[in-house]
Amino acid sequence: MAFSFNLGTPVNTALFLYILYSVQKIIFPPIPKPTSTPTEFKNGYSWMPKAHPPTVLFKIYTPKTLVPFNGIDGGRILLAINSIVFDVTQGRNFYGPNGMYGNFAGRDASRGMAKQSFDEEMLTPIDKPLDKCDDLRPDEIENMRGWIEHFSNKYIICGKLVENDSPEAASN
Ligand code: HEM
Repeated sequence: MAFSFNLGTPVNTALFLYILYSVQKIIFPPIPKPTSTPTEFKNGYSWMPKAHPPTVLFKIYTPKTLVPFNGIDGGRILLAINSIVFDVTQGRNFYGPNGMYGNFAGRDASRGMAKQSFDEEMLTPIDKPLDKCDDLRPDEIENMRGWIEHFSNKYIICGKLVENDSPEAASN
């Protein structure tokens, strides 16, 4: 047979030993299983973390269910632009209670982002229908899109903002 394996040749013996060596490394990894959770990556992982890291679920939000995510309680901070809900918790310095942009936390920030303004009237009261932003100028829409791009590159999109009475919200 053309491919018969002959252990007698030195090359095959070397290969066979190498395979043996590799297999024993898989079965008995050289990095011992740590007794406590490691805090840094060294040579490789031969262990599983105790718990799965927290995951972010894509959810449907309404103005009313978004508002608790304003970071005042030290928890997650979310905001919406053009119905896209971003998790901006990592930007707590911007959106936390003392942050320069804290007014947008837990709210639909579309108009404020479009018009580059913190004015009170930029925020639609949470019991009112969503701001359709259909009176905005093209350059304001463009500005809002710019912010969406900035946020998409920096934060996780974690949901969609719908009307308070939307059936989508009820089924969530
Ligand atoms: C006095 C005027 C302002 C100053 C000095 C200022 C300054 C800054 C600075 C230094 C940053 C950080 C940039 C970075 O590190 O990437 C920033 C980001 C930002 N600014 Fe302003 N800003 C001003 C006005 C505004 C206004 C009026 C808005 C209204 C929409 C606004 C919205 C934002 C947003 C959304 C970010 C991005 C924060 C993030 O990445 O999460 N800024 N600004």
